[in-house]
Amino acid sequence: MSDISPHNFPFRHLLGIGGLSPSEITEILDLSDEYVAQNRQVDKKRSILRGRTQINLFFETSTRTRTSFELAGKRLGADVINMTATASAIKKGETLIDTAATLNAMHPDALVVRHPHSGAVALLSQKMDCSVINAGDGSHEHPTQALLDALTIRRRLGRLHGLTVAICGDILHSRVARSNIMLLNIMGAHVRAIAPPTLLPGTMDRMGVEVFHDMTEGLRDVDIVMMLRLQNERMNGAYVPSTREYYHFFGLDQSKLAKAKPEALIMHPGPMNRGVEIDSELADDINRSVIREQVEMGVAVRMAVLDLISRQTSNQPPVGPDGGGA
Ligand code: NCD
Repeated sequence: MSDISPHNFPFRHLLGIGGLSPSEITEILDLSDEYVAQNRQVDKKRSILRGRTQINLFFETSTRTRTSFELAGKRLGADVINMTATASAIKKGETLIDTAATLNAMHPDALVVRHPHSGAVALLSQKMDCSVINAGDGSHEHPTQALLDALTIRRRLGRLHGLTVAICGDILHSRVARSNIMLLNIMGAHVRAIAPPTLLPGTMDRMGVEVFHDMTEGLRDVDIVMMLRLQNERMNGAYVPSTREYYHFFGLDQSKLAKAKPEALIMHPGPMNRGVEIDSELADDINRSVIREQVEMGVAVRMAVLDLISRQTSNQPPVGPDGGGA
């Protein structure tokens, strides 16, 4: 399958969506479609990464992203090692750079990193000889999440171009929102940001989004409603009066959803806080919610990214999108 398609993905790292072209995004999504089909078969395994070593280095908690990167690597035949900050020498005071140097000495081929600080993954990529994939850095970027969201939308609605997507909630602290805003803009979708002023970054007007502070206005006639969690772990103070009040004004319920197009889809990157940003029944509504499908797409997208990037490890420039080079 993937071996016979023409591929022109020139990057060794995936540090962010910024820097990707529409055709490069389309290439990742097209290959992901092939992996969705493969993942639905009984035999899900290929050997294109046989002999390669992938290290997943997670400095923050994760369910979906870590497991799907692990499954993705294993389904392509790589040896996959999982490391968490709590179980590593970071706990003993080792710096990020020293940890990177230690791992580098073991000759991995791909390092998948999640870190609480924006920019930490790009910094690591400069110290490693292998490919580095950003699995979420602070409130900066989460490129594979935006790609899996795009795949979910494209498979359901057939395109991204011309759609109106509302991203709702804690946009200020959300790397998911930033990566999605960039990707959707690159692909010609219209993006709306709906949030209280306290949960919106000051840079919104420069990001090509239409800003709303009222859900009933912002959701009018949208194709996609993307809900975000209140990221309390990144807040130093109170950004909303109370979760009850927040739900009243910004939580997705039937009456607010009624403003969107009748066939509009509900998305959420997870983890969800039911009753805070989304009504529990709506989250489980099989006619509207594609939240479980997003998880399925996550494995396929990560397989496509690992596959494409692995083709560049021997003979390509050392820095990828958002990393300052080709
Ligand atoms: C998100 C993340 O970690 O940025 N989750 C995910 O990767 N699916 C969103 C969140 O934590 O709210």
